[in-house]
Amino acid sequence: MLTDSNKVQQTLWGHPKGLYVLFFTELWERFSFYGMRAILVLYLTAQGDRLNPGLGWDNLSALQLYGWYTFLVYALSVPGGLIADRLIGQKKAVMYGGALLCAGHLILAFDSLWAFYSGLALIVLGVGALKPNISTMVGGLYRQGDARRDTAFTIFYVGINIGAFCAPLVVGYVGEVINWHYGFGLAGIGMAIGQMVYIYGQRYLKGVGEFVPVQKASKNHEKTKLSKIEKDRMIVLLLSFIIVIIFWGAYEQAGGLMNLYAKEKIDRLMWGFEIPASFLQALSALYVVILGGPIAWFWVRWTKKGFESSSLFKMGVGTIITGFGFLLLAGAAMETLESVTGKASIYWMFGAYFLHVVGELSISPVALSFITKMAPARHVSFMMGAYFFATSLGNKLAGLVGEAAQSAGELTIFLGVFGFCVGFGLLLLVFVKRLKKLTHGADDVQNISPITEPG
Ligand code: PHE
Repeated sequence: MLTDSNKVQQTLWGHPKGLYVLFFTELWERFSFYGMRAILVLYLTAQGDRLNPGLGWDNLSALQLYGWYTFLVYALSVPGGLIADRLIGQKKAVMYGGALLCAGHLILAFDSLWAFYSGLALIVLGVGALKPNISTMVGGLYRQGDARRDTAFTIFYVGINIGAFCAPLVVGYVGEVINWHYGFGLAGIGMAIGQMVYIYGQRYLKGVGEFVPVQKASKNHEKTKLSKIEKDRMIVLLLSFIIVIIFWGAYEQAGGLMNLYAKEKIDRLMWGFEIPASFLQALSALYVVILGGPIAWFWVRWTKKGFESSSLFKMGVGTIITGFGFLLLAGAAMETLESVTGKASIYWMFGAYFLHVVGELSISPVALSFITKMAPARHVSFMMGAYFFATSLGNKLAGLVGEAAQSAGELTIFLGVFGFCVGFGLLLLVFVKRLKKLTHGADDVQNISPITEPG
């Protein structure tokens, strides 16, 4: 019979089984999150006298609430991370966060304003407790220097996007066509499945994300030399947050400016069928699912060949590739200006989203992994929370850039974002060797035995 400590070391397809527990938990959490998000604004603005009545708000009020909601869900990751570091550990934080999310989503299934606000508040708290900490736990499955860590984050990221791809289609359909509250309820059922996976999977997560009391941890960190190293790593980590803000500031044009652009200025007729603009939103998630494996494989091969493959290098390359996506969009903007119909081909958008996702896969999972390597163990959840905060700032930046396009015109903005991303990415590549020194080897890949020991 297998003991619990044996179970935690079991692997499947070269990774600890705990990774798949976290994969499916996060897949369902994201299913509920993106499903609910897909119908939130539509529900708010749907008239109250329809067969499927909404709240009848105007667009501006709905977008304001949406803006605050998306900002708060990630901003609350900061206290979520702190609570895990200081009080309960990541594993329990994920469990409590999951419970809050089940309650929040299921309350939204009730048709009352009181239930609506309570549901939203519980979801904000739940995501804050769950999202940063489950990401930290992925890193906790691997020892320092384990080459599988980056790949593990990409696998995890694919799980996120399977949820993100299916949710708008399933929850969106049920909510919009049948009943908003059935849609919200369906998101809740998704989260409940995630919570059951997590509870069942505890046996594969022994020793991962456990609370480490500060006194015990601080004993290991009384060496002053180590704290200088830790400081350097924090500096490089904060720098990576700047990359993250710039990247999301560009990428998250998807839901705003690129969405409107697709709706108004892209010819979406294909094979006699007009592709809805919102369809392009699911495209990114689909690309992540398709490209996640090949890109992770590419980086593993690249590393094995002995080429430069530090996290910062990948992030620099990712920023440049994302920038080139905007060059394609500038191409679309030029075609729009020149064509008689005033519309550009949809292939520009397919290409732009493709490059954006190649960039995303070289940045977002890499950044998650980088945090778990760089932050001192006792601050890792907090730093993960800070990373999510950087993400929310990136989202805000994206909104500002989108607004600027209203007066400057799309072509100028697309070219500007292209130039800025490529320039910034190149600058990063120039300094990558020097910046790498600040990591003091924590980003280096070593030859690790295949047996996983959680650390
Ligand atoms: N698709 C990613 C996710 O849902 C977007 C994201 C990245 C959100 C980083 C927060 C932080 O996880």
